Amino acid sequence: MSFNYTGIKIVTDPPGPKAREWIGRDNTALTTSLSRTSDLVALRAHGPYVEDVDGNVFLDFGSGIAVSVMGHTEDSVVKAVRDQAGELIHANSCDYLTLPQVEYAERFVKLCPGDFPKRAFFSNSGAECIECGIKVAKYNTRRAGSIAFLGAFHGRFMGSLALTTNSPVSRRRYIASMMPGVAFAPYAYCYRCPFKQQYPGCNLECLQYLKDNVLERVIPKEDCAFIVVEPIQGAGGFIIPPKEFLQGVQEVCRENDILLMVDEVQTAFGKTGYFLASEYFGLEPDILCVSKAIAAGLPMGITVTRSELMEWDLNTHENTLGGNPVVLAGALAVLDLYENQGFTDKARQVGEWLQAGMLQLQEKHELIGDLRMLGTMIGIELVEDRQTKEPAAAKRDRLIELAFKKGLLTLGAGKSSIRLAPVHTMTEDEVKAGIAILDQVLTEAAK
Ligand SMILES: Cc1ncc(COP(=O)(O)O)c(C=O)c1O
Repeated sequence: MSFNYTGIKIVTDPPGPKAREWIGRDNTALTTSLSRTSDLVALRAHGPYVEDVDGNVFLDFGSGIAVSVMGHTEDSVVKAVRDQAGELIHANSCDYLTLPQVEYAERFVKLCPGDFPKRAFFSNSGAECIECGIKVAKYNTRRAGSIAFLGAFHGRFMGSLALTTNSPVSRRRYIASMMPGVAFAPYAYCYRCPFKQQYPGCNLECLQYLKDNVLERVIPKEDCAFIVVEPIQGAGGFIIPPKEFLQGVQEVCRENDILLMVDEVQTAFGKTGYFLASEYFGLEPDILCVSKAIAAGLPMGITVTRSELMEWDLNTHENTLGGNPVVLAGALAVLDLYENQGFTDKARQVGEWLQAGMLQLQEKHELIGDLRMLGTMIGIELVEDRQTKEPAAAKRDRLIELAFKKGLLTLGAGKSSIRLAPVHTMTEDEVKAGIAILDQVLTEAAK
């Protein structure tokens, strides 16, 4: 049974009594490391709406960190999962083959850029598909070094964490335990350019620094297995670099025989107005990592590489649950939506409505220092003062809380940014309803 919601409905000030009770239990039952952006205690969801345990209905502008962008409990996905669950739930992906694995891999790799044969490996999360990419690169090149970008988020395992610098908290107490040999280059975060330049008109000093310093002096190119990059820094605050920057990174890889690993865990599945952000930026990754929206919230990641890179020895890399048939049934249904039901076009349309609304808010609200927008991916960086650009971190947190109380779910990112990654099937009225709430809470949070 799916629930058809008609709009935001706040029946009791969230978190309501039932939510508070569950939050109390959570406080002793679960790890305290989960950041819990707001006090949402989700019970069920459909389309762009999420209902909490008290019967409040929220409009979802975050899609559970850019996951449920095809709509929550999308009908065809639910049907596919139910049907498959009655047939075969598990066989184990190392020892036995199941049909959806081959079908999905064949279809997905056709959508990946680069006119060369490709192979795929299935895993259960974003971090895991990055770990696979790291192993592929090191196995093939036999090189110990790698380069990532400052502010990036690639995961929380000891390999992916070693590539991650989005927050000081995530690395604390692990710095000597993580994968060694990683060096960092500045990302093209133009609003806060580390070289105090302005784009366009700069010489992409960030790229130059990668070439002249990080590659030459820190990681000699003959020791560098891969450079990993997010086409848009997600957890960093939806930082959208100039195309030239990413193309320059690709050139550095090609010129120096280094593998290019593109982390599209967050950007894939239409959110940029393209099925993959790599298409927009003109990238042809040697290693491509995708997760989050891939299976509508079922745990899945995929690593796609040039064929020859995954022609490695038996047992070199495998897992038990990757390529699970139920998860892949959901993923195949999601693929149908994007390949056959025009969901990337829908995202583009929602993106246009959203961007038009956000531009108006930027004119009105001084609190918005920078607005970064591509398709439905909207990064709103809040500042105390547009001249000094002092991050308005506390106001950002308050804004998220105020929006939640009014029935709008948003996400924080970076020091003082909000990221929006709404559901691609939203109507114009739903987008306008969300923008109207943002308008109100921008005023209230600024006080
Ligand atoms: C770009 C990127 N890479 C990797 C990850 C890690 O994914 P997961 O949380 O599924 O391990 C994330 C998660 O937010 C991400 O945004």
